[in-house]
Amino acid sequence: MTIPQHIAIIMDGNGRWAKAKGMPRNYGHAQGSKTVERICEDAYRMGIKYLTVYAFSTENWSRPKDEVEALMKLLRGYMKTCLKTAEKNDMKIRVIGDISRLDEDIRNRIQELEEATKNNGGLNFQIAINYGSRDELVRSVRRLAADVQDRKLFPNEIDEACVESYLDTYGIPDPELLIRTSGEQRLSNYLLWQLAYTEFYFTDVLWPDFTKEELVKAIEYFNSRDRRFGGVKEEQNV
Ligand code: FPP
Repeated sequence: MTIPQHIAIIMDGNGRWAKAKGMPRNYGHAQGSKTVERICEDAYRMGIKYLTVYAFSTENWSRPKDEVEALMKLLRGYMKTCLKTAEKNDMKIRVIGDISRLDEDIRNRIQELEEATKNNGGLNFQIAINYGSRDELVRSVRRLAADVQDRKLFPNEIDEACVESYLDTYGIPDPELLIRTSGEQRLSNYLLWQLAYTEFYFTDVLWPDFTKEELVKAIEYFNSRDRRFGGVKEEQNV
């Protein structure tokens, strides 16, 4: 079985999972956070090199204040535990998204965690926080335009590699597999540039119930696909 080197996940269905149990939505997010920890471990053991999860989107600010606060609290807690547990999965953490809108203590924790794990080489774990693909592109274009204005870059030098170098995901290979849980089949403004050639796997399983077995199913589906890039069959999958 070919193990994709990069898997991106839209972790959906926490709210419905909690509702089905007669519990508040935030309980679903807390369980979802535990699932994140389990899946990181499974991914590492399976030899997946890159995992990118959508933890908080630019649109999520419009959720009720108490839910936004609960999600931020979970992220805070996660960053703290992760400082201790990252070693286990030899995990290198990178946060993508516009973190300037986050509280200062979370920004500091992110910086601390990225710094502490920067030399780890097992699992590269990207967490998208206040991330939206269109926002990422706007921020990238602004920086690119400023570089053109400063004559550090000339318009005829702008190619795909150049645009990529301005994205939050710079240096990270594109995902080969995207998983979205809970039956929704949308991209929800996630990694629009990076998912150009990615296989999509949708499952009805709600994120807190997502297990290693589900991850294996997604990878089996990926293996069943005849991956072609613009008519040229990708060599590794021949
Ligand atoms: C979607 O479920 C999920 C989110 C908006 C947040 C995802 C966050 C976590 C899994 C926990 C924290 C993350 C980390 C990295 C520790 P939903 O609330 O939209 O579910 P619903 O569609 O059933 O309402």
